[in-house]
Amino acid sequence: MNASIPTAALQAAHAERAANDIAAHLHPFTNLAAHPQVDPLVIERGDGIYVEDDQGRRYLEAMSGLWCVSLGFSNARLAKAGSDALHTLPCYHTFNHRSNAAAIALAEKLLSMAPVPMSKVFFANSGSEANDTAVKLVWYYHNAIGKPGKKKIIARRNAYHGVTVAAASLSGLVPNHRDFDLPIDRVLHVDCPHHYRYAEPGETEEAFATRLADALEQRILAEGPDTVGAFIAEPVMGAGGVLVPPATYFEKVQAVLRKYEVLLIADEVICGFCRTGEMFGSTTFGLRPDILTAAKALSSGYVPISAVMVSEQVHAAVAANSGKIGTFGHGFTYSGHPVSAAVAVKTLEIYKRDKVFETAAKNTPQFQKRLMALGDHPLVGEARGMGLVGAIELAGDKRAKKPFDPKKGVGAAVVRNAEAEGLIVRVIAGDIISVCPPLIIKPAEIDELFDKLSRALDKTLDWAKREQLLAA
Ligand SMILES: Cc1ncc(COP(=O)(O)O)c(C=O)c1O
Repeated sequence: MNASIPTAALQAAHAERAANDIAAHLHPFTNLAAHPQVDPLVIERGDGIYVEDDQGRRYLEAMSGLWCVSLGFSNARLAKAGSDALHTLPCYHTFNHRSNAAAIALAEKLLSMAPVPMSKVFFANSGSEANDTAVKLVWYYHNAIGKPGKKKIIARRNAYHGVTVAAASLSGLVPNHRDFDLPIDRVLHVDCPHHYRYAEPGETEEAFATRLADALEQRILAEGPDTVGAFIAEPVMGAGGVLVPPATYFEKVQAVLRKYEVLLIADEVICGFCRTGEMFGSTTFGLRPDILTAAKALSSGYVPISAVMVSEQVHAAVAANSGKIGTFGHGFTYSGHPVSAAVAVKTLEIYKRDKVFETAAKNTPQFQKRLMALGDHPLVGEARGMGLVGAIELAGDKRAKKPFDPKKGVGAAVVRNAEAEGLIVRVIAGDIISVCPPLIIKPAEIDELFDKLSRALDKTLDWAKREQLLAA
């Protein structure tokens, strides 16, 4: 249990901070109407894979914040890289042929790591900006090559690509669209490749993948191949539920894309930098993207930065077009920001020097074994994952794969019970509990994570039984 009892002074300071938060702060992805009644969790510091709140309670952060803090919360070398950069060149832009050493080094490094040959790297500040940039590049590219009709982007239901206008449109999650008047036109959604939820009874993963690829082809034909510009996919879908694609899915989908000259955008914002066991999820699943977006673990989440890698085919057309217009009319004030770029360069250096990916790979079988074992829990319909990311999907009727009534808040109860155990996990896309710990997690910490999560599930089960939420 997270048993430390805060002192009266800490409690009073927290109460004041909480009141100020409620009075002044508009929270992202939060029920704003409920916020005044919910005591906010105020995180004050971090240490390795743990964080501590403003009342001195310690939590194992099993989500790396929001899937990003790969090197844990107290890496002094990253802090020093940021501090050194702030003291040398705290800000400069990269418009109009300007550059800085850190941005150049980072672009070179990323090209050397790319899963397929890439030509250039564009920098932004978030995954959303990177994906918006990818959409604009697809549109610009098709104008440049004289195919101005090829503008529709195909995404998948349950995808998450961010919240800016184009990225939110690409996302296939209802709350990201509802009452924002999204998606914009030119964005289409096709089937979600989640075998547990959407396969026909008895359908193999391969047959399911074939059916989805056939449906994609039919959709492209129905829309008109001359109107479809790109397909965007997370290798493993993150916020939609940590959905690992069925066997042969990407192979079959890519064959369709190639047939109709549809570009592939790989959204590696979560998967990039070894989350799925390889440097990029594209390598894990054999994707050959024309455009690749990355963020989060690019800087271990320490500073905002994202990257968009483009193939030479895309770059050559875009560059020629910008020559005609006189500029490539896109970029952010902080594209290639020298502080963010310096921290990202250091992050990539640490991954290599400390053999972070090798250690993560060594610890993956234990992580996956403990994760999969949760599949036997009476509350869990499916346990799934890959590398050091995973999820458990709760089910009110395990045999019939029937979810709980979302209004009962069973997933939220697991999160609350985990918090009481000193564990931070997240509920996503219905009653799905996700885990995505820092890549530096040690074997004993993996056991601690799953011991705590098991106790939280048991406690939730007792409550669900009392409330008669489970199928008889
Ligand atoms: C796969 C994926 N793409 C894009 C984004 C958006 O990134 P950001 O929140 O940095 O805009 C996220 C965020 O979680 C993500 O998981």
